[in-house]
Amino acid sequence: MARTVWDSSVGKKTVMAVSGLVMLAYLVVHMLGNLKIFFGSDEFNGYAHWLRTLGEPFLHHEWALWIVRVVLVVAVVAHAVSAYQLSRRDIRARPSKYVHKRARASYATRTMRWGGIILGLFIVWHILDLTTGTVHADGFQAGHPYQNVVDTFSTWYGNVIYIVAMLALGLHVQHGFWSAAQTLGVGSRARDRALKTVANVLALVLTLGFVSVPVAVMTGVVS
Ligand code: HEM
Repeated sequence: MARTVWDSSVGKKTVMAVSGLVMLAYLVVHMLGNLKIFFGSDEFNGYAHWLRTLGEPFLHHEWALWIVRVVLVVAVVAHAVSAYQLSRRDIRARPSKYVHKRARASYATRTMRWGGIILGLFIVWHILDLTTGTVHADGFQAGHPYQNVVDTFSTWYGNVIYIVAMLALGLHVQHGFWSAAQTLGVGSRARDRALKTVANVLALVLTLGFVSVPVAVMTGVVS
């Protein structure tokens, strides 16, 4: 049964929609959490500490964080694998006249494909930068994310990488949210306008919220 669903295009699109919405929910919470940086280092670092003690004493230290990490890894992998397989299927299904002359994918398809690749690379960079500190600019300090974030946005490449990724994120969410709604059958002639507005607002709020952090560091509002 699960195999039949996964093998169908609708099944893969459903996996994309559901995993996309899981990541979107995480991103809204992550963006709101990041805004705590405007209340100073104690509040931001305290919040990061609280994330590690969440659910205690019922859960062991950091277990809630690890549960979120596992759910996100499953969502990212499911999203990427189904996107890859759907695009392969798309190429195979083309009529033979395209064999010699490659048909150009639509603007939306190309934006989603490249946006997805940029975001995948960004997530790897972001974890190496602010979670493990492997590629971090300046003496990474575990447990002091406020200083780490300020250090990241004190380099020109840190600002470029994050701002480019946030713009890609906005475009990806704008189109992705809309596609997910269509796949899950929420769309209808009456609702489509409202769904488009929700997609636009979500994309804009997420991008502006995330971008406000590097901008605040660059302008000295956060230092
Ligand atoms: C300006 C934008 C962003 C800033 C300042 C930022 C900041 C941070 C910080 C400080 C952490 C580490 C938190 C901690 O250790 O307690 C973190 C973790 C994380 N961020 Fe971001 N983030 C941004 C954008 C994003 C975006 C756009 C994504 C996804 C596309 C993302 C995904 C993640 C993930 C998955 C983790 C968890 C890594 C882990 O601990 O396992 N972040 N972020």
